[in-house]
Amino acid sequence: MHKGLEGVVVDESRICEVDGESGDIWYAGYNVDDLVGRSSYEELLYLLWNDQLPMEDELNELEEDLSTSRELPSDVEALVDSQADAGPMDVMRTAVSALAASDDDANDISREGLVEKSTGVIAKMPTVLARQHRRREGLEPVAPREDLGHAANFLYMLHGEEPTEREARAMDDTLILYAEHGMNASTFSSVVTASTEANVYSSLTSAVGTLQGPLHGGATETVVEMLEEVGSADRAESWVEEKIDNREKIPGFGHRVYEVPDPRCRHFAAHIDELADDEARTWYDTANAVREEVEARLGEKGIYPNTDLYSGTLYRVLEVPPAFYTAVFAVSRVAGWSAHVMEQLEDNRIMRPRVKYVGEKNREYVAVDER
Ligand code: CMC
Repeated sequence: MHKGLEGVVVDESRICEVDGESGDIWYAGYNVDDLVGRSSYEELLYLLWNDQLPMEDELNELEEDLSTSRELPSDVEALVDSQADAGPMDVMRTAVSALAASDDDANDISREGLVEKSTGVIAKMPTVLARQHRRREGLEPVAPREDLGHAANFLYMLHGEEPTEREARAMDDTLILYAEHGMNASTFSSVVTASTEANVYSSLTSAVGTLQGPLHGGATETVVEMLEEVGSADRAESWVEEKIDNREKIPGFGHRVYEVPDPRCRHFAAHIDELADDEARTWYDTANAVREEVEARLGEKGIYPNTDLYSGTLYRVLEVPPAFYTAVFAVSRVAGWSAHVMEQLEDNRIMRPRVKYVGEKNREYVAVDER
């Protein structure tokens, strides 16, 4: 039995290798360290889907397909507006699911169909998020612009003004860093759904739902609650001590795969270091102080920071409201989900594990009025 499927290898993949010993992430053979600051989310998407970097015309084509697909169908706009005060991950899950309704050919799971539909969903997820944020704040939604890249347009729709190049770069890097991470829970969820030959809207909806939990993508938000609770760097020692004494798990730490600090942390930290204002700096200093305490006490057990320890602080710098942090993660990780769905359907076999039955047998049924 493999509780939590620990150590189980479900298939072969060319998409991503997470080396938990050395602390390296390889996207189709390229080290993520070489892509951050140089590549773009669009280019990475092409790489994950095609196992090779695009030529210029191929990249231009994908960028155009994405930038011209950002508008939401009117029924999805109405849905987001009617649920503006609901949890952003609930709205995102519902919106991704609802996109199937305006696709006459939603069940096409050919390679071309998957690319076309995934492009549409990926293009629209930032529009869903930005629209909900603005409705919540009583602001008019901002229509997407076709002349901006995926990351810059996302920030533009959120804030109603064009981001600086520096801000757009930081957002692009967060999207690259969260885009893919092997057979994590939400990706596995998308693959399980795809393996039944369900359509891609179902697969991506499953994945959004799975990302929501605080043991996975939801940790980006629980980390912020933790940083608020700790309050300042000088309180980190007593706070961590108490949590460890109570055997509570500390958000933003631990990972099934890494035995070393998550390599994405340093990229988030570098952006924060450069861009943080005073408030973000307090979060950052608090996060670092908590990290020092946790590593000192639990490092020998292999408990190190994961990327969620820092992502919220960078989102704060980019003025993303905390309730939307996990949804930003979804906006990024849909790249990996879609890539794995495509790979699964290239050589599909339905996912169907077993469970060991430990209940009783041969119980005698007694009608309800005789029990
Ligand atoms: N704080 C304190 N102790 C921890 C932590 C933590 N964050 N994480 C694991 N441990 C301990 C755990 O108590 C257990 O100790 P013992 O063997 O003495 O009972 C041991 O380490 C193994 O933990 P586990 O829960 O069996 O490990 P897992 O591989 O099943 O869970 C995890 C991995 C990420 C769910 C877990 O580390 C955790 O809950 N972390 C906090 C939530 C979090 O930050 N999640 C984000 C994950 S990374 C990005 C993403 O996937 O979204």
